[in-house]
Amino acid sequence: MTDPIRFLMCAPDHYDVDYVINPWMEGNIHKSSRSLAVEQWEKLHHIIKDHAIVELVKPEQGWPDMVFTANAGLVLGKDVVLSRFYHPERQGEEPHFKSWFESQGFTVHELPKDVPFEGAGDALFDREGRWLWAGYGFRSELDAHPAIAEWLDVEVLSLRLMDERFYHLDTCFCPLTGGYLLYYPAAFDGYSNRLIEMRVPAEKRIAISEPDAVNFACNAVNINDIVILNKATKELRDRLEAVGYRVIETPLTEFLKAGGASKCLTLRITEPVRTELHATTQIDTRTIHMMGHLLDAGLMNRALDLIVDGGGSFKVLNFNLGEQRQSPSEAEVKVSAPSAEVLDDIMSQLIDLGAVPASEDEQESLREAVPQPGVAPDDFYVSTIYPTEVRIQGTWVKVQNQRMDGSIAVTYTDQGPVAQCKLIRDLAIGEEVIVGTRGIRTLHKVENRDQKASQEFSFMSGGVSSERRVELMVEQVAWELRHVRDQGGKVVVTAGPVVIHTGGGQHLASLIREGYVQALLGGNAIAVHDIEQAMMGTSLGVDMNQGVAVQGGHRHHLKVINKIRRCGSIAQAVESGVLTKGVMYECVRNQVPFVLAGSIRDDGPLPDTETDMIAAQQQYAELLKGADMVLMLSSMLHSIGVGNMTPSGVKMVCVDINPAVVTKLSDRGSLESIGVVTDVGLFLSLLVNQLHQLTTVYQTVS
Ligand code: ARG
Repeated sequence: MTDPIRFLMCAPDHYDVDYVINPWMEGNIHKSSRSLAVEQWEKLHHIIKDHAIVELVKPEQGWPDMVFTANAGLVLGKDVVLSRFYHPERQGEEPHFKSWFESQGFTVHELPKDVPFEGAGDALFDREGRWLWAGYGFRSELDAHPAIAEWLDVEVLSLRLMDERFYHLDTCFCPLTGGYLLYYPAAFDGYSNRLIEMRVPAEKRIAISEPDAVNFACNAVNINDIVILNKATKELRDRLEAVGYRVIETPLTEFLKAGGASKCLTLRITEPVRTELHATTQIDTRTIHMMGHLLDAGLMNRALDLIVDGGGSFKVLNFNLGEQRQSPSEAEVKVSAPSAEVLDDIMSQLIDLGAVPASEDEQESLREAVPQPGVAPDDFYVSTIYPTEVRIQGTWVKVQNQRMDGSIAVTYTDQGPVAQCKLIRDLAIGEEVIVGTRGIRTLHKVENRDQKASQEFSFMSGGVSSERRVELMVEQVAWELRHVRDQGGKVVVTAGPVVIHTGGGQHLASLIREGYVQALLGGNAIAVHDIEQAMMGTSLGVDMNQGVAVQGGHRHHLKVINKIRRCGSIAQAVESGVLTKGVMYECVRNQVPFVLAGSIRDDGPLPDTETDMIAAQQQYAELLKGADMVLMLSSMLHSIGVGNMTPSGVKMVCVDINPAVVTKLSDRGSLESIGVVTDVGLFLSLLVNQLHQLTTVYQTVS
């Protein structure tokens, strides 16, 4: 004979909507009818009494939500995990429920303070008792789950709630006898839905629609084959009946105003223990260390937000606030996630922020062999622009050829292990690739607390001062260019045809002539229109002096391409006197190397255009080596390509009339990139002007 099923309920003597702690309560303060509530509660009480035993806990004045006994705690056998309410409005219920449980001989387990958990409202046993589904995201903390697993000796599966209307797991999730599950998938994140689908076979999943969900159809009490709920559409009722359940509807509208229905109003206090099953949880944890202007630079917020947004939870173990303006702060944070997979996603973002494994958490990096040439193992770590180190054989090894969007390949030499960034297509058999996120750290400079992460200036956008601001930017860039030239450094320019169309060609040519440019990267088009202008005075058929379209001018550039093709190359065109001025001419004359990368829309192309994209990328990367500064002039594609190849620490100046391009390129989370939203021709003319002034000053001084 099995023991009778028992429930705990609490009469609505003091029930009311007194405050707002969930979206259902909004606009409902003191709007529920006590007499109707009593009537509805009694009906429910009756129905349940027909199928089980109901115990009652004494309602307490001042705790209107005590009727929702599902939130008293979570019971398994003789153990109960007492709730720790998230909202102060309900915390006063805790001692009353605690003494009731104690009076009934339960062993009461209490979570540490600040680890909220709202009992059976957020934790539901599989009705076969195989595991516990536990919700988090609004009222209960993920960190409560391992403790519950331990105390109740069960497997806990964590589900993340995403829709604040379904703030407790039991508002959108109801395991039924026979392994069925009634639930509202849209209330959960993708990972949780996958977990549900892995555990509950498709034929046992009864996914409900929104109209049923908002009527709290999932907030049902299931006793053997009966399902007691507020309201169900005909469709849902038919589906439940088709698989053998008897549906009993009983209106609970007065309680819906507080965000609860039949399941919330009851707590099942007989949950049989399956002694053959034991505690496990998929929850994975790691401790990270962060240093820098954690508060001033907003790093701490970003890290903690990122953990929570990624579906994890955190505990700040240590926080040392820097005492002076310049002193960095330090923090140690324990990060938990419902699974290793989710933790890896969170960790990869934290690593990008500069979080490093806490020293006691330093682990060997994980590596897998390249499975086939040009292919990485599935879980490969994707590199960033930041200097990176990986832990190999117990030491941190610096990664070479740092760039974005590569993998990290490891080989072993007599001098020890070598790690380098490699594009996946370049991976070779015999190499190992870093996978996962263990044993990886990126090193970030501690940013000056006074400076903003991105300095963006916008021309013509913000009143009269903006014109002056572009001038200020030009002054700064001019100073840097001058500085790099004096030091014998390297400036690489990427430029689009807009440079020529806007009349900037002559200025770029003069920068090259005067030794400010050490390499030029672009597409077919910049060279084509530069040469068109040099030979015919037009750019895409527009007369560059008059600013008007020339008759038949749209064919000019094809004539020009043809002429260069006849010469064999741009250099030969210069040699033979066919090309006598312009950007490309200056490159040839001053031995400034250039790469022209082809594209689908190229006319011609010029003989110099590299149409093998992989070869073009390699040549770009080659010319970028050792660059001190990259000047990106109105070419979104070439500039983004270059940005990906360039490690942090290289100054980047991006000039474009389109603010979106500037934001995309200058948002590298570092101080080294400057964005200028302006006309590129105008920018170049101001720049050349400024450089001349600087040079004159230098000459008079020396
Ligand atoms: N007003 C209560 C709250 O927001 C309703 C609780 C409903 N209980 C439940 N198990 N879903 O806490």
